[in-house]
Amino acid sequence: MSTLQDGIYHAPGRRPPRHLALVFLRADPAADSAVVDGTLREVTGMLGDLAEGRVDELPGHPVPTGDLEFLLGFGPKAFAIPGARLPSPAALGPRYRFRSPLPTGGGPVLVGAGLEYASDVVRNDATEEFCLQLTAGTQLAVSRAVVELWKLLDGRKDDRTQMAPLEIAGIHTGFQRDDHRSWIGFHDGVSNLDSGAREGVISISDGESGSDTWTVGGSYLVFLSLAVDLGPWHRLPRSEQELLVGRDKLTGAPLTGTDSDGLPVPAAGCPVAGTTEVTQPGNEDFIEPGPTDDPVLLATHVRRANLSAGDAPDLAGSLRMFRQGYEFFQPIAAAPGFSVGLNFISFQDHPDRVLRALTQRGWLGGVNFGGQPGQDGPAGRLLTVRAGGTYLVPPVRDTAPYPGAEVFG
Ligand code: HEM
Repeated sequence: MSTLQDGIYHAPGRRPPRHLALVFLRADPAADSAVVDGTLREVTGMLGDLAEGRVDELPGHPVPTGDLEFLLGFGPKAFAIPGARLPSPAALGPRYRFRSPLPTGGGPVLVGAGLEYASDVVRNDATEEFCLQLTAGTQLAVSRAVVELWKLLDGRKDDRTQMAPLEIAGIHTGFQRDDHRSWIGFHDGVSNLDSGAREGVISISDGESGSDTWTVGGSYLVFLSLAVDLGPWHRLPRSEQELLVGRDKLTGAPLTGTDSDGLPVPAAGCPVAGTTEVTQPGNEDFIEPGPTDDPVLLATHVRRANLSAGDAPDLAGSLRMFRQGYEFFQPIAAAPGFSVGLNFISFQDHPDRVLRALTQRGWLGGVNFGGQPGQDGPAGRLLTVRAGGTYLVPPVRDTAPYPGAEVFG
């Protein structure tokens, strides 16, 4: 039986619920493991109640649940809480963490990656002790969960320090799109592992756990808040956009080459007769871009993000990951008045799958999204990072009050 926490929607036919809030929780430096354990019991108990429609201050008057689910992640700092009984897993070691932004803003997220922090980002809030992924079918259900979390923690503040054992230190919200496209206009989430291969890639196996045997059956969450600079992108001709992504913009068909004018050629026969998009039934053979040695195709985002064939569950066999991203849209004061992007969230048995894909030459190493390493112009500056982190998603144990309780209890 799976011991993965709720909130990883990998089962065949399941789609992630519409709304997300990813909350980062900071532990009071004065709080020891017993205090943090007590607070996590309360927090997860309260969220469990909410998932059944029970709100503390409305006894006997249930609210719609919105099918709320929550997932608890442990960052490297969680294991440094005084009294923690287990050391930080090797897979959360410094090699598998994102760099901090420069004190003046900006800077690379990883040595060798083509992704940089935005120049106004001086603090990365995805480095706190814990993360809580809240997902639900309604915006109210995730927002209410954050507000109820705040109320609970507010009631635990220490009079002298004015700090609760856990404090909300960052919130990222997002939504699923019903057109299954991303802000750049292309279909996203088309190629996302065969459902049969998913659990093998997501779930930490005996071999992957190394000496951290207690993590077996859990997963690692990798998060990147990626802002998309739509201005230069939407002025790029469609053919140039397609050569950066690797798919036909309208149909989602994978590209198979270029014609004599250098224009992209989508896979012949896709979409099949009677359908208009690769996401529709009948087009299963076209989901994965086929093997190629065409250098133009190899530079596209889809190829760079997945150069090895197959969905091998072992890390050596592939760098596949289970992507479960949520788009964001935020009004901002500066022109054009909004910021859009992707809360990239992926689950895998080791963060190395993502970090290697982002830094390896031939893969996304040195490349912002697609195209050539160090490329200037819109392709080289499409994405900027606003936050990023790596969290262990401990396995569920029947007898434990919350996943990962063995670290403190
Ligand atoms: C805002 C940022 C991003 C956007 C808009 C974006 C967009 C896309 C699009 C349009 C596709 C093609 C559709 C599909 O096959 O699902 C795709 C595929 C993919 N992307 Fe991204 N992506 C972004 C960031 C990333 C990052 C940071 C990674 C991390 C490594 C990544 C990994 C992948 C993977 C693994 C695939 C599937 C490739 C395949 O097997 O065919 N993406 N992405």
